Amino acid sequence: MIQRKAILSIFMGTTMALLLIGCYPKPVGSVGPGGNRLTWPEMTLEQRKAHMGAVVLPIAADLFRTWRPDRFSQVNCSLCHGQGAATGKFSMPTDHLPRLSGNVLLGPEFEKHPDTTRLKLDRLVPEMAEALGLKGFSIITRRGFGCYACHLGPTGPMFGH
Ligand code: HEC
Ligand code: HEC
Repeated sequence: MIQRKAILSIFMGTTMALLLIGCYPKPVGSVGPGGNRLTWPEMTLEQRKAHMGAVVLPIAADLFRTWRPDRFSQVNCSLCHGQGAATGKFSMPTDHLPRLSGNVLLGPEFEKHPDTTRLKLDRLVPEMAEALGLKGFSIITRRGFGCYACHLGPTGPMFGH
């Protein structure tokens, strides 16, 4: 009897965890009019700016500063948005950043820029996806938040961005 209960609760726990993992986009913003926290797609432009400033920028600043203090001691919105940060054009991906190869396994990137690629893959992408409550890039579906959320491919946006 006790065993059945244990098995049942493990099963329920796993089901709940799967439901939670499967649930994107996740609420990440401040509380909206209905009293519930907003997901990134639900936010207005002003709310997105505020979320970028309060949550995304500190994460990115810390990561880049720790990685290369000489180059990234002072980081602001223009790190990712370039000139757009000054003119109010925040759409991503952007040609302010170098174009990537479009290779889904990042072969050319690992060959030419192993450090950056590792850092981005292991830390920047997951931390940004988490901060925005978005699902990370999947090689199977070829959708989700990954390199091409920021970078363009050889001929333009890729993987649904
Ligand atoms: C580390 C890179 C990075 C930094 C730094 C950054 N952003 Fe962003 N920003 C992004 C990415 C990536 C997106 C697109 C997210 C998505 O996939 O929808 C975005 C989207 C936005 C959007 C939404 C644009 C739209 O069309 O809806 C706004 C507004 C914005 N950023 C403002 C800012 C502001 C203001 C700052 C500085 C306080 C900032 N960002 C700093 C990466 C960055
Ligand atoms: C949140 C935005 C963002 C994401 C996501 C992102 N990058 Fe970047 N990337 C940047 C910024 C900002 C720079 C410019 C700073 C620098 O030189 O590292 C950059 C620069 C680069 C460069 C040029 C490095 C150099 O020294 O010329 C490469 C290569 C690169 N990224 C690869 C990747 C790969 C591969 C991924 C995915 C695993 C990725 N990036 C994901 C923002 C991003």
